[in-house]
Amino acid sequence: MGDKIALHLCMGSACHQLGVHRVLSALQKLMHEHGLDAEIDLKGAFCLDSCMHGIVIKVGEKTITDINPGNVESRFASEILPVLKNEKQR
Ligand code: FES
Repeated sequence: MGDKIALHLCMGSACHQLGVHRVLSALQKLMHEHGLDAEIDLKGAFCLDSCMHGIVIKVGEKTITDINPGNVESRFASEILPVLKNEKQR
């Protein structure tokens, strides 16, 4: 098991309206494609207090805002993957 890295996806009402369910399924697919299923603990979160900034993901200490179903793939590669690598090296 080891220590998985927690990735929180906001499932609050504002993020819900922006299509968080599509982001969720995209994230699950990306995690799977990168072989990260065993390393990431994907959790739904209540409002992460950034409702004005699009869908919010929190990974480790980093909060990533303005996620949407169209950009989740590129944001995953450019912002989420690097955090995961850093966390793993701790
Ligand atoms: S509902 Fe997602 S940050 Fe508030």
